[in-house]
Amino acid sequence: MEKWFSDRLKQWYSKHKRDLPWRHETDPYKIWLSEIILQQTQVAQGMSYYLAFTKNYSNVLKLANASEDEVLKLWQGLGYYSRARNLHETAKKIAYELKGNFPSTFNEIRLLKGVGDYTASAIASFAFNLPFAVLDGNVYRLLSRLFGVNLPIDSASSKKEFQKLANSLLNKKEPALHNQAIMEFGSQFCKPKNPDCESCIFKNKCYAFSHKKVAELPVKKNKIKIRTRFFNYFVLIDKQGNVLINKRQNKDIWEGLYEFLLIETKNDCSEIEFIETQSFKALFKSKPTILYLSKIYKHVLSHQHLFARFYVIKCVRFPKNNSLKTPLNNIQKWAFPKLIDNFLRDTDIAAISNKEI
Ligand code: ADE
Repeated sequence: MEKWFSDRLKQWYSKHKRDLPWRHETDPYKIWLSEIILQQTQVAQGMSYYLAFTKNYSNVLKLANASEDEVLKLWQGLGYYSRARNLHETAKKIAYELKGNFPSTFNEIRLLKGVGDYTASAIASFAFNLPFAVLDGNVYRLLSRLFGVNLPIDSASSKKEFQKLANSLLNKKEPALHNQAIMEFGSQFCKPKNPDCESCIFKNKCYAFSHKKVAELPVKKNKIKIRTRFFNYFVLIDKQGNVLINKRQNKDIWEGLYEFLLIETKNDCSEIEFIETQSFKALFKSKPTILYLSKIYKHVLSHQHLFARFYVIKCVRFPKNNSLKTPLNNIQKWAFPKLIDNFLRDTDIAAISNKEI
């Protein structure tokens, strides 16, 4: 163990740590919840989700007994919904197959669905004080700069090198404290852009600072390719104020969430072009009356840029398909992707659909 490293880190952490609710926990269930949520979002946004999940499901059995729709609803807005489904599946496994006992060794924790090396190390150390060093994006950045490691952080072979380095620095007597501290320092001090190197506790040891390489480290190999998609949504309303929605079934983004009738196109289609497409004609036997056409909503995911437009249409008869008919005035009970939720918040569909055609 590099004593200078863990001593300085510990001292810095004792002065600067944020008081976060999961830091008072040793319950592995709650720590697991917090880590799965924080894989997905920043602390500031993740906090309200953590509090809602722990309030609604105070133990793993309660989460296991919830319905998938309920769990997805509570997760709404966090994105990456397969994580919420894995969370639910894993809760059932722990509740029923493991009789409610959360696994207590690194290897067993690592076998849980949705749990990778980072999360297993976090749970093993925070809940059981086991000596496993965490390696998240913040730790990669700190190690890369401090020790001048210019291996790409997004390649499997360099992960081993970084993990070895992180293990060699771990304070094995206090792994929970050490892991919290290294992540906190990486995220709060050794920031991606313009860190305050002049006042850094590692200034006299830092390779990147002395070689003026702070902005160039860490190195990344892959520039990700962005896919652009265009979603045309049809909000079909009948006279009784019902609307049609579908549960997304395919192995694609938003699996398990709800949406309106969708026709996806490669590009933005104007209304006139669109009415001529086969998909549109298949959906509507006769030309429908469009009451309202929304602005374009944009939503950015890590590998996809989504654009969506919503057509509000009043129907005498709904098309015969497997969609779910639900009252408009209770639509918020379903879990929608954030993009659709934004549209729902902006738009008074009831008022639009009641106006005279
Ligand atoms: N990000 C991921 N895990 C975290 C934790 N335990 N504390 C603060 N930020 C985190």
